Amino acid sequence: MSMKIDILTLFPEMFQGVFEESIIKRAIDEGKVQISLINFRDYTDDPHHKVDDTPYGGGAGMVLMCQPIFDCIESIRTPESVVVMLTPDGVPYQQRMAYYLSEKKHIILLCGRYEGFDERIRSICDYEISIGDYVLTGGEVPAMVLVDSITRLLPGVINERSHIEDSFNENYLLDYPTYTKPRVFRGMEVPEILISGDHQKIDEYRYQESLKRTKERRPDLLK
Ligand SMILES: C[S@@+](CC[C@H](N)C(=O)[O-])C[C@H]1O[C@@H](n2cnc3c(N)ncnc32)[C@H](O)[C@@H]1O
Repeated sequence: MSMKIDILTLFPEMFQGVFEESIIKRAIDEGKVQISLINFRDYTDDPHHKVDDTPYGGGAGMVLMCQPIFDCIESIRTPESVVVMLTPDGVPYQQRMAYYLSEKKHIILLCGRYEGFDERIRSICDYEISIGDYVLTGGEVPAMVLVDSITRLLPGVINERSHIEDSFNENYLLDYPTYTKPRVFRGMEVPEILISGDHQKIDEYRYQESLKRTKERRPDLLK
């Protein structure tokens, strides 16, 4: 059965083209994932289609209001849905979360804008996710990051071995170095062992290289 992802955004046009190329497009065409863009402005009760207002207590910018977002989520969620708020103060996104979400049937991604959400909107969300310690203008790019990382894990979307060998998988190691033709480029040679044809030795070499790279670049992962 295919996965359904609903993206709640004030700027659905931003997604044009993003899911229309390469692996994600193929997954959509083959019915492995179904992606819908929903503008939560369509759910506002306000005669002027307002979705944001000034913050109580004063301060800069506008805050997204509860009503349109609550009504929108309540009209599309089912007992199988997980609602994910994209927010810089959420839990830092990691590959293990991508795996977890790839097993869900229906994911609702909520993209913020302006100064962010009315605090009470958190109560209708199951998870709050940040894609990193920096602030973007909106949740649309984070939603694209989640859709991409989740879709490539769905069964049959890419060769299973290739994501098992990717960085951040079960063993938490970074990927090993890879090479392709030619054997020598500007004096830089492909390691001899990769041309040896001895697959046991190649696997051991790759494992050691993964370990070395992880120790050098991301020792935190080894903990
Ligand atoms: C300008 S930001 C709001 C920032 C908020 N005032 C703060 O300091 O935490 C507007 C929206 O962009 C999205 N956003 C920005 N940075 C993000 C990040 N690192 N991860 C996930 N979402 C992010 C969120 O949906 C957020 O509501």
